[in-house]
Amino acid sequence: MIISLCDDPDAVADLAAQRVADLLHEQPRTVLGLPTGRTPVLLYDRLADAHAADGLDFAQVTTFNLDEFVGIGDLHPGSYRAYMRRYLFDRVNLPAGRGVVLDGLAPDPEAECHRFEALIDAAGGMDLQILGLGANGHIGFNEPGDSLQAATHVMTLLAPSREANAFFFDDDVSQVPAQAMTMGMGTILKARRLLLLVTGARKARTIAAAVRGPVTTLLPASFLQLHTEVEIICDSEAAAGLR
Ligand code: GLP
Repeated sequence: MIISLCDDPDAVADLAAQRVADLLHEQPRTVLGLPTGRTPVLLYDRLADAHAADGLDFAQVTTFNLDEFVGIGDLHPGSYRAYMRRYLFDRVNLPAGRGVVLDGLAPDPEAECHRFEALIDAAGGMDLQILGLGANGHIGFNEPGDSLQAATHVMTLLAPSREANAFFFDDDVSQVPAQAMTMGMGTILKARRLLLLVTGARKARTIAAAVRGPVTTLLPASFLQLHTEVEIICDSEAAAGLR
């Protein structure tokens, strides 16, 4: 596990964008796994800028998003599909249909999870999975609990996760859907490389426990200890417990 320490969220985004750009230059047909949340917004800004200024090329890239809310579609501004269009897909030359997001309006969410998992397998799996960290230790929407699931599945969200996502729903937690679909921990750990971005003091205890503590379903991020190619990029506030 490599831990890269940066001064602030801007520097985290710069380094993460550099990692992505290096990979796309080396391997234009890359399969990326992508997160949502507030943390990666600066990264997507950097990638859009690199596309506009330096021609960073997404023409042969395929992306899979970690998760999506059940019951809302791309017309809803709080959906992760809308988020991805806003922050990345509409700003780079990723071909239509190659930015794969679970369909929150699928009539059978379980079947949608199977379809999504099969698409990842058909693409050859993720070369690089970028991740954010929930303050409660979730990865994607794999919530802390007595067990974790390996494959993409439907998850009932815990209150802290709904509260953390209210930001995208007019700060009104009652509008945040109760369920989401998420890649499973097995899906995530099958990626060839993992890149976890962590910023802000409110994540400091969680990341310290995930890196230094036991591997436990009570802290899904601790499972990243089991992967051999992980880089965690932290800003100084998040890294406070790691020094
Ligand atoms: C959300 C997403 C996660 C994300 C996390 C952190 O709930 N499902 O994939 O990594 O929470 O979000 P933020 O970056 O806003 O702290």
